[in-house]
Amino acid sequence: MTEPTPPVLDIRDLRKSYGDLEVLKGVSISAPKGHVVSLIGSSGSGKSTLLRCANLLEDSQQGEILFEGEPVRWRGTGPARHPADRHQVIRIRTNLSMVFQQFNLWSHMTILQNVMEAPVTVLGEDRHEVEGRARSLLDKVGIGDKCDAFPAQLSGGQQQRAAIARALAMQPRALLFDEPTSALDPELQQEVVRVIKVLAEEGRTMILVTHDMRLAADVSDHVVFLHQGLIEEQGPPQKVFGAPSSTRLQQFLSATAA
Ligand SMILES: Nc1ncnc2c1ncn2[C@@H]1O[C@H](COP(=O)(O)OP(=O)(O)OP(=O)(O)O)[C@@H](O)[C@H]1O
Ligand SMILES: [Mg+2]
Repeated sequence: MTEPTPPVLDIRDLRKSYGDLEVLKGVSISAPKGHVVSLIGSSGSGKSTLLRCANLLEDSQQGEILFEGEPVRWRGTGPARHPADRHQVIRIRTNLSMVFQQFNLWSHMTILQNVMEAPVTVLGEDRHEVEGRARSLLDKVGIGDKCDAFPAQLSGGQQQRAAIARALAMQPRALLFDEPTSALDPELQQEVVRVIKVLAEEGRTMILVTHDMRLAADVSDHVVFLHQGLIEEQGPPQKVFGAPSSTRLQQFLSATAA
């Protein structure tokens, strides 16, 4: 018998505080290869914090994070806990590419340069190869004609698609999205939603924080509802959206549907 493939990302009983404020109170989520896991919940419930802890942009104080079965190595405990191995951090972070609400493109670089930058400078890949990949990714997200433009010359939807191409250029094992459509007008949101749906259909592993319940319902294999730093309910989208059992989730869904 072959060993089952470990999840791309496996978070176990994660706890995180900012000073006295306990933001994550023991959260476990798992993203198997090829699955889309959506995180939903009210503002302040800890969704962004969980993503940032997952790719080691933030320290967490307790619990484990496993990347493809490999546990993050820590030194110290509690508030003094930090990742022990800088190379491991870089490897994990580059394999869990993040797409942010505010795009975070580099304003002084063209769109093509934005997409090429990290594979060339962080991964040390061949510039010529990366350029070919970057151009085809920009084609894929529908902005192949914007290679030489600067971010400020693009619409919000185009900038976010450039940010997705930039994340894909790292050839990551998973993509982490933090509200990729929240900063956009409704018609621009749809351009980005279309790209995310294509990525889901391709079988990319993704963790998606979103306020767009229709998107979460359409693309997710699994939906997690966070409430005040704890998982209040989780399950397949049909169950979470169609037959929520917790009162808090019912209230959250009726408030977002309004
Ligand atoms: N750097 C920080 N320092 C102190 N507190 C923080 C920090 N970042 C987040 N918090 C607090 O942690 C809690 C969770 O924040 P987080 O950003 O994870 O929520 P969220 O679920 O992503 O909310 P939203 O839907 O508004 O984006 C909030 O109470 C927030 O004020
Ligand atoms: Mg957030």
